Amino acid sequence: MKQFIEIANVTVSYRENIALKNISLNMEEGDFISVIGPNGAGKTTLLTVINGLGKILSGSVKVFGTSLITSNINKIRTKIGYVSQHLNIDPRFPISVREVVKIGRFGKIGLFNHISHKDEEIVDSAMELVGISKLAQRPIGHLSAGEQQKVEIARALAQQPEIMLLDEPTSNLDPKSQTDLIKLIDRIYKEKKLTTVFVTHILSHIPTSCNKVVLMKRGKIIWFGGIKTALNEELLSDLYDCPIEITNKRGRILAQPKWW
Ligand SMILES: Nc1ncnc2c1ncn2[C@@H]1O[C@H](COP(=O)(O)OP(=O)(O)OP(=O)(O)O)[C@@H](O)[C@H]1O
Ligand SMILES: [Mg+2]
Repeated sequence: MKQFIEIANVTVSYRENIALKNISLNMEEGDFISVIGPNGAGKTTLLTVINGLGKILSGSVKVFGTSLITSNINKIRTKIGYVSQHLNIDPRFPISVREVVKIGRFGKIGLFNHISHKDEEIVDSAMELVGISKLAQRPIGHLSAGEQQKVEIARALAQQPEIMLLDEPTSNLDPKSQTDLIKLIDRIYKEKKLTTVFVTHILSHIPTSCNKVVLMKRGKIIWFGGIKTALNEELLSDLYDCPIEITNKRGRILAQPKWW
């Protein structure tokens, strides 16, 4: 298996605030890694490092075997789909759903270049896979939070990425929409075998395709390994600084503070 992501001794700070402290992590092609940890643990910062957006104080990052340096970051980034915690388009902007998804192609073809018939097909098939074809002509501001998250995923897929980064895509969704979105992410992974990093702090949201888990706390990776071993009351109680109880409801793992 090829190493897709190699993070070695990376430290990131926002002025005096150290967000990542000397972390190392390797990820192979085809991995589905879930990153779990409390608020402020450094999960989003870890994704920005992989995406070449994080300001690294020390250490090194390689993606697809190439060191991330200023001259190649844009090229590498076209192969990385990023679904952020929040929709990044102002809902008042007069642009349709299909046009937002089309933005995903611009990294590859250039902003002002002709979009070919093939590109249009890729946009349509990304919308179809995510199940938003019917929304194609709707203004982006006229969507629910769940529909907006699907548009974000379709835009990332239209990029035809080799790595998909998903930062808490289920935040702001109702329980049914959360379950639907997790199933969708699972289906996309199974269909495309897309190397995926999925950030959440809700254990029951880990898709079944996930094979490895990173536990993060206060800017450090405190544990990395197989999902079965990660779902351990002692490890999770340490992660969240409170006693955690794990229950298994029809194959769905629930981890909750014991006093609930
Ligand atoms: N732009 C910024 N300026 C200053 N500090 C920041 C900035 N972004 C993040 N931080 C800090 O870096 C640390 C890690 O933040 P990060 O957003 O990576 O956490 P997270 O694990 O994604 O949290 P959450 O679960 O709340 O999304 C936090 O202490 C946060 O306050
Ligand atoms: Mg975050």
